[in-house]
Amino acid sequence: MQPLRVGLVGCGEVTQILHLPSLALLPEQFTVTALCDVSGQVLQAVGDLWRVPNRFKDYKELVSQADVDVVLVANPDAYHAEVALAAIAAGKHVLIEKPMCITFREADEIIAAQKKAGVTVQVGYMRRYAPAFLEACRRIPELGGIRLARVRDILGSNSFFVNQTSRVIKGTDVPEELIKSGQKLQAERMEEAIGTPGPQITRSYRILLGLGAHDISAMRELLGFPKGVLYAAQRQGGAYVTAAFDYGDFICHYETGIDQIARFDASLEVFSEKQVLRVQYDTPYVRNLPIRLFVTSSNEAGGVSESSVHPAWGDPFVAEWQAFSEHITQGRTPKTDPADFRKDLELFTDMVGLMRG
Ligand SMILES: NC(=O)c1ccc[n+]([C@@H]2O[C@H](COP(=O)([O-])OP(=O)(O)OC[C@H]3O[C@@H](n4cnc5c(N)ncnc54)[C@H](O)[C@@H]3O)[C@@H](O)[C@H]2O)c1
Repeated sequence: MQPLRVGLVGCGEVTQILHLPSLALLPEQFTVTALCDVSGQVLQAVGDLWRVPNRFKDYKELVSQADVDVVLVANPDAYHAEVALAAIAAGKHVLIEKPMCITFREADEIIAAQKKAGVTVQVGYMRRYAPAFLEACRRIPELGGIRLARVRDILGSNSFFVNQTSRVIKGTDVPEELIKSGQKLQAERMEEAIGTPGPQITRSYRILLGLGAHDISAMRELLGFPKGVLYAAQRQGGAYVTAAFDYGDFICHYETGIDQIARFDASLEVFSEKQVLRVQYDTPYVRNLPIRLFVTSSNEAGGVSESSVHPAWGDPFVAEWQAFSEHITQGRTPKTDPADFRKDLELFTDMVGLMRG
């Protein structure tokens, strides 16, 4: 089989540090044939570095190329839906970075377009393709009843990790009016999604879309969809969000926030009577860092045993692309499909409703 030909829309940080190196590890599955970015400087430098022949400033041109089978959507959030819809309409398979979109309207349009076109659309929830996470999911039924769960994502800003470990090519040539129209589009989409609840809650919604989407979607896969949100609150100008999800027999606590400590503390923790499972993530910007499953168990002698499971080496972005290739070639629906993403929007909307009071 020939490798699938990939066109990348948005050649910024995540594309340069994570997607291009991941694709380079999968030459039998993928070959990158086209790039799109609104910055000519970024296009040229990234295209030269990775030897990608076809370069476009307008995504509409990229999605209409005959030598593109698959489109990665990795430009700013407010454009995700329109790029995905154009790619789907052109009959391309789409891997779309999180958040898939900002509003229910956009989500429903993508869901309908995918059904009509029959192409594969996968949301870039790479944490859910990590072997340690899959191992935790496999062990949940063996726990014999969950008593409590915790989901946490407290991080230092990404620049700590990026600046010390990668060189990212940035453009200084994007016209001011294009930058302003992108900001306006983002503000319009946010208002369409949640109205005008004030800058704090708007910031929280943005954090939920950008970071919380990883945590809450992983929570849904691990524990199922909650019966409801018991409470949700924001503090620190919206930069910290906490919530409690009601699972009937147990509650799942959620906490997220961004500070200036150069560490990445993201985990999902599940407590049963005799065992605790914890999936611990590290920053995605340093590739191949192990994602571990920690298991704390009571032993027969009245003591405790602790183990750390790290089922495989490798990066979750590579695992995500590998899964995408299998979904396309085997005609299987990704678990992280557009309808799955919509469930995160449902929970975010409920959380914002509770934050408003
Ligand atoms: N899965 C993850 O963990 C993860 C990590 C980081 C970022 N992301 C997502 O990836 C996306 C990109 O993030 P980033 O950190 O690379 O951002 P970035 O700002 O570094 O890069 C965005 C790039 O898109 C270009 N761009 C802007 N408007 C465009 C348009 N209309 N058409 C084409 N290109 C355009 C910019 O010039 C820039 O090069 C975001 O949606 C973000 O949420 C996901």
